[in-house]
Amino acid sequence: MGQAEAMRLSIKALYKNFLMPKGRGIVEVLGGISLEVKKGSFVAILGPSGCGKTTFLRIISGLEPPTKGEIHLEGGKDSVGMVFQEFALFPWRSALGNIEFGLEFRNISKRERREKARNLVRLIGLEGFEGYYPYQLSGGMQQRVALARALILEPTIILMDEPFGSLDSQTRSDMQGFLLNLWEERQDTVVFVTHSVREAIKLSTELYLFSKRPARIVRHWDLAGLKASGFRPQDYLALEQEVLELLKKERAVV
Ligand SMILES: Nc1ncnc2c1ncn2[C@@H]1O[C@H](COP(=O)(O)OP(=O)(O)OP(=O)(O)O)[C@@H](O)[C@H]1O
Ligand SMILES: [Mg+2]
Repeated sequence: MGQAEAMRLSIKALYKNFLMPKGRGIVEVLGGISLEVKKGSFVAILGPSGCGKTTFLRIISGLEPPTKGEIHLEGGKDSVGMVFQEFALFPWRSALGNIEFGLEFRNISKRERREKARNLVRLIGLEGFEGYYPYQLSGGMQQRVALARALILEPTIILMDEPFGSLDSQTRSDMQGFLLNLWEERQDTVVFVTHSVREAIKLSTELYLFSKRPARIVRHWDLAGLKASGFRPQDYLALEQEVLELLKKERAVV
């Protein structure tokens, strides 16, 4: 199999400008991002606040058009699953109802829909809670429902925008473990935006550091390679320090 065939997502020289209100010119947000996401990889993206990470994910998912650049997404835009920081669950629907939601627009019988949703409830470990409404669920449980809601569409790539940002540290750590297990089991392809350097290093097989706006790639680390070659606890700490230093430099310049 050739290199190109194993790519889920391929992005070449992606630029994005937004128009400022009242004709005050443009804001350059993405300044030429090129990257490739291999099938089955877990890509983490770090970068200073406001550098364009959410915009980048929105462009991949087709919610926002690029100004310039090429995007090749295996399976097209319908194959993208998105999970956001705010769980964005429907408060008037049960956990099961939320998970089923995406399939209601597809030509799938109610029975099949229910069966798929029940399988996902099991996968996310929420059996017994499927009838609960979002306000009756903890933050971690809500985020698992949000993940299941994305997974039910069988996406070929899952985009996550600071999904654990609003969770307390213990729940966050639990959710990281949960997501890693799920990813290993299902061999999903994930692009994960986070503010936490530690989280990015813990979860990812590839790590990208974006610069301040207009975002470019400052550095890329092949963590799969490093982790496979016997990454020791002190190596994690050294890498964390290195990434933090680079991130600080990006923040320092306004
Ligand atoms: N629809 C829009 N119209 C105009 N400007 C926008 C729009 N969406 C985003 N921007 C601008 O693009 C820049 C990048 O925003 P974005 O939300 O992508 O950053 P981010 O890296 O996700 O930040 P954070 O880490 O704080 O979430 C910001 O300056 C923002 O004001
Ligand atoms: Mg953002």
